[in-house]
Amino acid sequence: MQRFVFPRWTNKFLALLGVLIVGGGALYGGPMFLAVTSPVTLNVGYEPVQPVPFSHAIHAGTLKMDCKYCHNSVDKSAHSTVPATQTCINCHSPMTPAGAPTYSAVHSTSPKLTAVRESWRTGESIDWVRIHRLPDYVYFNHSAHVNRGVSCVSCHGRVDKMDVVYQAKDQSMAWCIDCHRNPEPHLRPVEFVTKLDWDAEKDMGVSQIELGTRLKEENNIQPQVSCAVCHR
Ligand code: HEC
Ligand code: HEC
Ligand code: HEC
Ligand code: HEC
Ligand code: HEC
Repeated sequence: MQRFVFPRWTNKFLALLGVLIVGGGALYGGPMFLAVTSPVTLNVGYEPVQPVPFSHAIHAGTLKMDCKYCHNSVDKSAHSTVPATQTCINCHSPMTPAGAPTYSAVHSTSPKLTAVRESWRTGESIDWVRIHRLPDYVYFNHSAHVNRGVSCVSCHGRVDKMDVVYQAKDQSMAWCIDCHRNPEPHLRPVEFVTKLDWDAEKDMGVSQIELGTRLKEENNIQPQVSCAVCHR
């Protein structure tokens, strides 16, 4: 093995790493990490109260809006973002004094949309409470997954059925590495990544493993497991 130079992000964890190394040098052992992942990210089920009772089950489920209508950077950059108020106003425009709204005015006087109208009036963004968050020392990239055929559903669950979004997976290091070692169950043609109810068997008549194995080979998909990939 190459001489290992600890990158700066490890400073906080040197003590922990020391324990790991003494504990058998089995750094690549994977399972060891099951025991050391921090509780902060292991928030399965975390479901904070939001300033607006926004429902994915209505918008992404019943109304069948594509995830990218609102999360439009998810296939373009490392970060996905929560939509700006303008996006909501496209449909939930308040009435103007003259009565005629600028855009569509679905439920334009609903009290559930008070915070949306207030944000539109003042120009201050809505204080959505963030649900998924990795520690700063972890590098993650949405587009690198989404553009290789990993669906939102693999990491966020059936958001299109959730009235209130909750964290569906533990997002531990072991979880990341499990899929990096064995991505076949999670690969699909890129055009279906936001179709959460898509199913290889039902929609393409092939088993998921057969399809995943083929896509992995055809597109040369090789998720890495070396430390520097996620800790830069
Ligand atoms: C009409 C706009 C809209 C659409 C369409 C939409 N979302 Fe969202 N999404 C939001 C808003 C607003 C929030 C922040 C409030 C919340 O958490 O409910 C959010 C939050 C989220 C979060 C949690 C983010 C965090 O804080 O960690 C995830 C995950 C998510 N959306 C996934 C999806 C997926 C997957 C789809 C497609 C099936 C989708 N969204 C479709 C507007 C939308
Ligand atoms: C493409 C149009 C569209 C966009 C964009 C949109 N919505 Fe909606 N929304 C609807 C429709 C249609 C309904 C009504 C569904 C029903 O009543 O069955 C609705 C219902 C709602 C409700 C429930 C209102 C009530 O009184 O029951 C809330 C809250 C809401 N939307 C919030 C948002 C937020 C926040 C955003 C921006 C992140 C947003 N919507 C973006 C179309 C949209
Ligand atoms: C490989 C797993 C994975 C996939 C696939 C994935 N996400 Fe995420 N998502 C994450 C992780 C991990 C975070 C937390 C990122 C962080 O803290 O930097 C996150 C965070 C988010 C957030 C919150 C971002 C913010 O800045 O508040 C939204 C919204 C989101 N994802 C939407 C989506 C949508 C929509 C899709 C599908 C088009 C998707 N994600 C696909 C793992 C994934
Ligand atoms: C469901 C499967 C899956 C999960 C879960 C997953 N990944 Fe990945 N990851 C992949 C695939 C597939 C690729 C693409 C490999 C390729 O392009 O050859 C990838 C690529 C990456 C890359 C390389 C990006 C680049 O710029 O080259 C990083 C970094 C990464 N993942 C980090 C993470 C982290 C951190 C987590 C956990 C929070 C995670 N992944 C969870 C499947 C997954
Ligand atoms: C595919 C992405 C990925 C790879 C590869 C990876 N890690 Fe991590 N690592 C993570 C994530 C995500 C977390 C945060 C998980 C958590 O807080 O539970 C993390 C957390 C850690 C922590 C802190 C644990 C704690 O208790 O907070 C250490 C130390 C660590 N990693 C070391 C390593 C080492 C050493 C390697 C190489 C053998 C490595 N990681 C490879 C994703 C990765």
